[in-house]
Amino acid sequence: MANVVVVGAQWGDEGKGKIVDWLSERADVIARFQGGHNAGHTLVIDGKVYKLSLLPSGIVRGGKLSVIGNGVVLDPWHLEKEIALLKSQGVEINADNLMIAENTPLILPVHGELDRAREEAANPGTKIGTTGRGIGPAYEDKVGRRAIRVADLADRETLETRVDRLLVHHDALRRGMGLEAVDREALLAQLEAIAPSVLQYAAPVWKVLAEKRKAGKRILFEGAQGALLDIDFGTYPFVTSSNVIAGQAATGSGMGPGAIDFVLGIVKAYTTRVGEGPFPCELDDADGQRLGERGHEFGTVTGRKRRCGWFDAVLVRQTCATSGVSGIAFTKLDVLDGFEELKICVGYELDGKRIDYLPTASSQQARCTPIYETMPGWSQSTEGARSWADLPAEAIKYVRRVEELIDCPVALLSTSPEREDTILVTDPFSD
Ligand code: GDP
Ligand code: IMO
Ligand code: MG
Repeated sequence: MANVVVVGAQWGDEGKGKIVDWLSERADVIARFQGGHNAGHTLVIDGKVYKLSLLPSGIVRGGKLSVIGNGVVLDPWHLEKEIALLKSQGVEINADNLMIAENTPLILPVHGELDRAREEAANPGTKIGTTGRGIGPAYEDKVGRRAIRVADLADRETLETRVDRLLVHHDALRRGMGLEAVDREALLAQLEAIAPSVLQYAAPVWKVLAEKRKAGKRILFEGAQGALLDIDFGTYPFVTSSNVIAGQAATGSGMGPGAIDFVLGIVKAYTTRVGEGPFPCELDDADGQRLGERGHEFGTVTGRKRRCGWFDAVLVRQTCATSGVSGIAFTKLDVLDGFEELKICVGYELDGKRIDYLPTASSQQARCTPIYETMPGWSQSTEGARSWADLPAEAIKYVRRVEELIDCPVALLSTSPEREDTILVTDPFSD
């Protein structure tokens, strides 16, 4: 049976949630493997809107197992709120359809405070534009071997030892930043109070996944963020603090790399970015404004306006390589309806030379200017198209040119936020 990894192939917000929800019909298990509630995945099902940040998008469909893997950083208070919100929308969530890996590190209030304090204190030009949700500091504590993990919540003695170790580090940091020391007893009380609502879902996820795999079940891995926000391969330091690329699906869930049969890269028909950092194709003109308005480009998590630009084939070819993308889901094609001309970035000019990749050095990235190819647009609507036959010839040409430039085929095409407005070209689950 095929297992599929879905990853963002740009700077996030490519439409991963919609595609994961659509694909989850064919899957048995849907697993998150990195990131946390910095993600914002919007699903639209028969006009009803669901917004997920931490829970796998598969939770909305009945009869599927949703899993939060060890690669995620989990804010237990946010978990409680998101579950309550979804339940109020009629989604069923219980220990049979949601499992959280016992070795998942927690995001604590100190992490969010530190994240926001650092951003406030940052010198001009060094602010990252984080979501302020404590993601970076929580991952630092994981690697620093002082995190509190889900399993620790079950034992008061362990919890105290872990909290003490954590506070040695955080109180020193906080003193330096002019923040008050953490109230140890209050933190322990908060953790004890929240423990049952997390522990009811705790499970040895690696084992459950191994059993599911053995039983021939199909696993769908749901990535958050996008490859250009990857801690190693993104536009560092303007990135998130986890590995986002497809290889992380294995380590972030406890499966070997051989479990991955198909990598589906989610690619928006143009480019957006939220937060600071380089963006060679960014548009400050009427076209950029129009992309933002037609695409409703406002962040789900922070409500911030997303920066917009033309499609950058250089970046997507690069991210298809770093994630080993087998095929892409090309989303938001409908947003391009009505443009007289469309531009695609096909290379960069750097110091008088043409290059075909984004260099690593920030100073070089800043000097890259896009080389564009212009294509004719289309006046007809593609919104809601459900087959190739519904697409104007120019739209098909645009898609075909993108495939050529990124050296990767289109497996799915999305033409509106609605679940069913999706064109299937190649089934990622077919073995
Ligand atoms: P994610 O973070 O990758 O899941 O993406 P977001 O949910 O943050 O942002 C994508 C937005 O575009 C959401 O509001 C989706 O409902 C919407 N969307 C997804 N696919 C399409 C599409 O094909 N066309 C249009 N117009 N909107 C889409
Ligand atoms: P989804 O899953 C877009 C960005 C933030 C910031 C940087 C670091 O919805 O695609 P962090 O809070 O992670 O430390 O912020 O990463 N960022 C996202 N941008 N989509 C996301 O998730 C993002 N998650 C984080 O804006 O630039
Ligand atoms: Mg999003």
